[in-house]
Amino acid sequence: MALVPDALAKLTAAGLEILVEQGAGKGALIPDAAYADAGATVVSTNDLYQQADVVLRVQKPTPEEARRLRKGQAVIGLLQPLLDPQLMAKLAEDGVSAVSLDAIPRTLSRAQTMDALSSQANVGGYKAVLMAAAEFGRYFPLLTTAAGTAKPANVLILGIGVAGLQAIGTARRLGAVVKAYDVRPETREQAESLGAQFVTLKTQIDATGAGGYARELTAEERAAQQAELNEVISGMDVVITTAQVPGRKPPVLVTKEAVAKMKPGSVLLDMAASALGGNVELSKAGETVVTDNLVTILAPENIPATMPIGSSSFYARNISALLLQLVKDGALNLDPADEIAGPVTITHGGEIRSEAVKKLLQPAEAKA
Ligand code: NAI
Repeated sequence: MALVPDALAKLTAAGLEILVEQGAGKGALIPDAAYADAGATVVSTNDLYQQADVVLRVQKPTPEEARRLRKGQAVIGLLQPLLDPQLMAKLAEDGVSAVSLDAIPRTLSRAQTMDALSSQANVGGYKAVLMAAAEFGRYFPLLTTAAGTAKPANVLILGIGVAGLQAIGTARRLGAVVKAYDVRPETREQAESLGAQFVTLKTQIDATGAGGYARELTAEERAAQQAELNEVISGMDVVITTAQVPGRKPPVLVTKEAVAKMKPGSVLLDMAASALGGNVELSKAGETVVTDNLVTILAPENIPATMPIGSSSFYARNISALLLQLVKDGALNLDPADEIAGPVTITHGGEIRSEAVKKLLQPAEAKA
């Protein structure tokens, strides 16, 4: 849910009037009455689209919802404009302003309260460990009891961004022995400070890219990395993968050969799995696969939605901070020169503003 009742006070104090679609909080276990008590007006879906100047949401609108948006109205959410540039073209054509939280400049300190990618990756990293632990047929911690001793689980986290760091911390708190690996060398210290052992490969790779992200590896780097990683993976009980490269298909880090060498009962959880593919070659987005050698591969979609109260309250904080930043004198001020409003505004005034989206919409020959 895009807003939680606790987030309303700041918005109403700033002079904004809040309408909440009837039943919208249900999935996050928030009743309509809680919004009304916090100062919102609960309205029907039709009234909401007719009356609102700005529509706040979590994900991009469905085609039907997009048709309801009208000229001069703005929609703010995690719209994933690069994954659906056609939707952005349609919104621009209809005169709708599209503002996307995934375009927040993440390293800008005054934008950190608006960083929904981080807040949701944090929820994801935490819950992914709980999901993998629930699937795992043994204990995570070392346990000595009268009935015997349980060895601690060996957990490997691949990709040490926001989700990976939260996964390391969570697996450690559950008592597992944790290893972690990333292609950005600066992550070593961060992983170690949370109690993980950083996996050092003989093949030294530094794939630090722009903006703190990783760049795509070359074919040679990938092959060298894979051979060494396979050795490490085969000795693990639980592997959680979080590796992403912006705008690209996620890299495959766990091949079928590596899975074939894992012990029966091992669990893999692919956080990068989507229709585009994932970090685990055999994962299927939204499904659980059990291999012939009895390794379970989880690929849950939209993990934050499985922890709706926590993820909604963080998201509400992110989206309200952005909204308060954008509103000037009772209206949205999408100034292209502003260091936050500029990048987050994907469409406005009938035009596509995002250069990256424009490029994706060009015919193939023009792109080349
Ligand atoms: P992400 O979701 O794009 O990727 C996750 C991790 O996968 C990254 O650490 C990346 O290096 C790693 N990865 C990519 N290819 C890999 C491969 N082949 N093998 C192993 N690992 C691979 O990353 P996320 O979580 O969005 O964070 C990206 C960066 O942005 C990080 O440096 C993070 O610290 C930084 N950041 C900075 C913020 C700030 O300064 N306020 C806020 C949020 C993020």
